Amino acid sequence: MNSKRLYLHTIGCQMNVYDTEQIAMQLAAIGYEQTATPDGADLIIVNTCTVRAKAEQKAFSFIGRIAKMKRHRKRLIIGVAGCVAQQEGRRILERMPAVDIVFGTQAIDRLPHLVKQIETRHCRIVDVDMVETPDMPDSLVGSQKSSQVSKFVTIMRGCDNYCAYCVVPFVRGRETSRQPESIICEVKALVNNGVKEVVLLGQNVNSYGKNQNLCSFAELLAMINEIYGLLRIRFTTSHPKDLGTDLISGFKDIPKLCSHIHLPVQSGSNRVLKRMNRNYTREQYLDKVAELRDTCPQIAITTDIIVGFPGETETDFEQTLQLVEMVEFDGLFAFQYSDRPPAPAAKLPDKIETSITSNRLQVILASQDRLTRRKNQQLVGSTQWVLTDGLSKK
Ligand code: 5AD
Ligand code: SF4
Repeated sequence: MNSKRLYLHTIGCQMNVYDTEQIAMQLAAIGYEQTATPDGADLIIVNTCTVRAKAEQKAFSFIGRIAKMKRHRKRLIIGVAGCVAQQEGRRILERMPAVDIVFGTQAIDRLPHLVKQIETRHCRIVDVDMVETPDMPDSLVGSQKSSQVSKFVTIMRGCDNYCAYCVVPFVRGRETSRQPESIICEVKALVNNGVKEVVLLGQNVNSYGKNQNLCSFAELLAMINEIYGLLRIRFTTSHPKDLGTDLISGFKDIPKLCSHIHLPVQSGSNRVLKRMNRNYTREQYLDKVAELRDTCPQIAITTDIIVGFPGETETDFEQTLQLVEMVEFDGLFAFQYSDRPPAPAAKLPDKIETSITSNRLQVILASQDRLTRRKNQQLVGSTQWVLTDGLSKK
């Protein structure tokens, strides 16, 4: 088989990074080898994100740039994958004549067939079909030695939580967990290829297996802990409403589980949390933090914050700021709210002006900066085990 060149560009979350690897493995089966630059590629795929407006703009500007390459290279195939593809579907083909294929988050395992059709028939294809109760297609596992020590492993897809601001349930579909045997098999194969750490991915790992009567997430962690040669286990993301004592105890009882939890609080105001449909209160969140720290005093806790949710008053914001200072997070990601229809918050009145949201963002970031500096200072002179996993972008 003649080898053809494939360039992959990923925008967005870890789940997209994992999906991109699955795309690469699917296409390797029909002769595509990955290259490091788009120049000279036969097929370019951009895996897109739509969770915030900025990520979507990034995707369209990247597609615009590679579309120009097609003027000189008529045989180049351009594909759009991921959440923007899922949401926009055929509209992308209409808007961007250079694009040949648009495929959604549940179509990755059909990709070899779709690309072959384009190669032979020079047609344009849209595959954004989503099913109500999807089977999780088995992940492909590469047999090549990995140069990476840490790898993402998706254990569940989709989300059933419908937070008011969030587009994920609409583009990633219903929550579906992979069979534990399939996950364990993948982790074992990764470890055989040299991987030392796995990061288990799901929109809400705490509800892993629940609607399918599989084992619990804590039980899954305990099984993965037994895999010989694996050194560390991490996971993301947890929903505070579903974080139970069994998982919290895992931080004490599961030796390979790293002492870190990403626990997005989003807001410190009960009024806003209710309007966000988060299903927990500020007090309940603080109780979980206390339980985590009682069980595992050295645990690092990180979070996500949205500022400027529709109707967020100065008092609401003050409560968020106060929560950030009270918890003393080890790190946080803060975002300015953006409308993501069909997420229901897009229809709420009382949108907050950008000048106010950007100011609130700066205040939160500055406050966390001070806390992070102080926490880092406390570690000066101590000895820590570290796992280096690559060069930082900066
Ligand atoms: N606007 C701003 N931030 C958002 N997030 C999700 N949807 C939106 C939105 N519409 C943030 C949340 C989530 C993180 C992945 O992205 O904080 O936890
Ligand atoms: Fe979005 Fe909420 Fe689901 Fe997270 S839990 S993916 S924020 S709907």
